[in-house]
Amino acid sequence: MKTHNFSAGPSILPQSVITNASKKVLEFDNELSILEISHRSNAFTDVMSESITLVRDILDVPSNYSIIFLQGGASLQFCMVALNLLKKNNGSAAYLNTGTWSKKAIFEAKKFGDIEIVGDSSNKNFNYIPKDFIISDTHDYFHCTSNNTIYGSQIKTFPECNIPVVCDMSSDIFSRKIDVNKFGLIYAGAQKNLGPAGATLVIVKNEILGKSERDIPSMLDYRTHIDKKSMFNTPPVFSVYVSMLNLRWLKAKGGLDYIEKNNNKKSKILYQEINRNSLFKTLINKEDQSKMNITFNLKDQNHKNLFEKICAKNKISGINGHRSVGGYRASLYNALPIESVNALVNCMVKLEKDIA
Ligand SMILES: Cc1ncc(COP(=O)(O)O)c(C=O)c1O
Repeated sequence: MKTHNFSAGPSILPQSVITNASKKVLEFDNELSILEISHRSNAFTDVMSESITLVRDILDVPSNYSIIFLQGGASLQFCMVALNLLKKNNGSAAYLNTGTWSKKAIFEAKKFGDIEIVGDSSNKNFNYIPKDFIISDTHDYFHCTSNNTIYGSQIKTFPECNIPVVCDMSSDIFSRKIDVNKFGLIYAGAQKNLGPAGATLVIVKNEILGKSERDIPSMLDYRTHIDKKSMFNTPPVFSVYVSMLNLRWLKAKGGLDYIEKNNNKKSKILYQEINRNSLFKTLINKEDQSKMNITFNLKDQNHKNLFEKICAKNKISGINGHRSVGGYRASLYNALPIESVNALVNCMVKLEKDIA
């Protein structure tokens, strides 16, 4: 029996991608490993350009947007976004505070300009997504986190506004269809639905750049990386390569149409069991529940040891909630098979029977 990997990230990748990548670690090009070839070689520049083409294709990214692969994780984007988009003099932006990652993005942006928190769910331990807030046109941009990996909430409808919408999509990019036209900039660390840790994907509407009037360090200026086609310095070669294999896998499966239906099916199975099983409770308002990171807890902590013993016996891995939240979090990323969701549900049913 294979381990069911519910890890929140780095997280499960398709087995075929891992098998293929492992072969290319041994030999990729002319007897050389993918780990030891130059990033300037034709073999790797082909990988970079195919990766970018696949992102454009799968997400239907319009031609007036650039796609780049960077390093530094999504966390570096918290300051890069502000440096590139907040005007040097009297710059301001609107932020939605929906959890740990939003808070970190706000903390960094405040170093560069005035930040207005237009919506904030911290009053209820981030168990909902604020709605009906007003975003003033006077701001340079609006920032939100599409999926709150730690708390388990997700934006289902993005707010409309007249300023660029910047979105941290680290934990739900490639999990559902999105209209890229509605965003000024999208960023995501690779290590959930894209590939292994190391690369960060940025999709940016070209016209919003070059307006901050700041002297931005070259490495932190999006235009540097766009001009050099993500090759200004050494890119995270292996992470980009495996991301390319994973994007090929997603495209072959049927792209976002297929994966969104599959993700809907998987999350429905687990939420149904959390609602049905009298021993468990959800942590998030129904309409805002994430389809990627499903948070839940036991109503009675006396059952904790038995539940975790059942899970361990059935090779359920990575369901402990984030240390700041507790309880459980099952991450149902694209590569997680439906059988794994059923295996977790069976453990919940078994607990119910065992204590009856
Ligand atoms: C939504 C979100 N934003 C940002 C981050 C930080 O990403 P990184 O570790 O790549 O900096 C994470 C990490 O899990 C995340 O889930």
